Amino acid sequence: MNLDSISRERLDYVLCRMPKAELHIHIEGSLEPELIFKLAGRNNIELPYRSIDELRAAYAFTDLQSFLDVYYAGAGVLRTEEDFFDMAWSYLARAKSQHVIHSEIFFDPQTHTARGVPFETVISGLDRAVRRGEGQGVSASLILCFLRHLSEEDAFATLEEALPFRDKFIGVGLDSSERGNPPEKFARVIARCRALGLRLVAHAGEEGSAEYISGALDLLGAERIDHGVHCLDDPDLVARLARERIPLTVCPLSNVKLAVFPRLADHNIGKLLAAGIVATVNSDDPAYFGGYLNENFTAIFAALPELGAKEAYQLACNSFKASFVEEGIKQAWIGELDEFFGAV
Ligand code: ADE
Ligand code: ZN
Repeated sequence: MNLDSISRERLDYVLCRMPKAELHIHIEGSLEPELIFKLAGRNNIELPYRSIDELRAAYAFTDLQSFLDVYYAGAGVLRTEEDFFDMAWSYLARAKSQHVIHSEIFFDPQTHTARGVPFETVISGLDRAVRRGEGQGVSASLILCFLRHLSEEDAFATLEEALPFRDKFIGVGLDSSERGNPPEKFARVIARCRALGLRLVAHAGEEGSAEYISGALDLLGAERIDHGVHCLDDPDLVARLARERIPLTVCPLSNVKLAVFPRLADHNIGKLLAAGIVATVNSDDPAYFGGYLNENFTAIFAALPELGAKEAYQLACNSFKASFVEEGIKQAWIGELDEFFGAV
């Protein structure tokens, strides 16, 4: 495999066609304005926007919280099992078209149960889409996220509601407003999840400091860090992430839309890879941040001259290694990736 022979012009083709996994996608963040209007119509919900364009115009975020306010409001159109199925199926169809052969999908049950939508409605719709994907060559699994702006007690209650459906999700995560809601706030509920055999991830170091990343590792036992871009502020932490091979699920377009970095050209993913960290590329909330996985790949590679074919291979390979599937499946997917790069 001679990666140096792949030209810049050919790189976009390679990025878009290579097999890869997506490990950081909030399914509610895949709700496109068109689907928001369709579901609002189906459920007789009046939206505070007159048109799809007017809704899209509201997607001008200044930080994480300004985004979350719009994102939670958008999720208000989801009411029935069919709504959750349609949302997840449209993401999986898009993922398939972008050669994403596996995805680990976050969902935020508290956003829905707080509005009176039963947990069972949420998970049944999502699970039906996941199983339909399996039948069509798209692998996916679900990760339940606790909202960190809510209490740990609320997270415990959500876990109880989820347990009858334990076979339908593989792990838990922490998302929503990071600053002021440190990992230790959820140490007890995450310890219970660990005892139940659930896989553990956590958003950390998106807007929060490197300390939130160390906290997620030491106090929660997180196996993967979502975002984690602020790790570079702590050289010891960088060395640890590399040594212990703790993956980071990085989301370039999200980071610019939410002002974590002023421009894509300022993004640190090239430095993370150079430091030996198992970084991956992901879309976070594709309907809100200007693109799905391929758009994230092509935009960040266009912005950073240090990213070439070698890094494309590395990032795709990392996405499989960082996934929660069994080792034999990882190796089979890496074999597919090698075959792809061998033929370009
Ligand atoms: N929920 C959806 N997107 C998120 C993000 N980027 N950070 C924290 N919580 C989120
Ligand atoms: Zn996220």
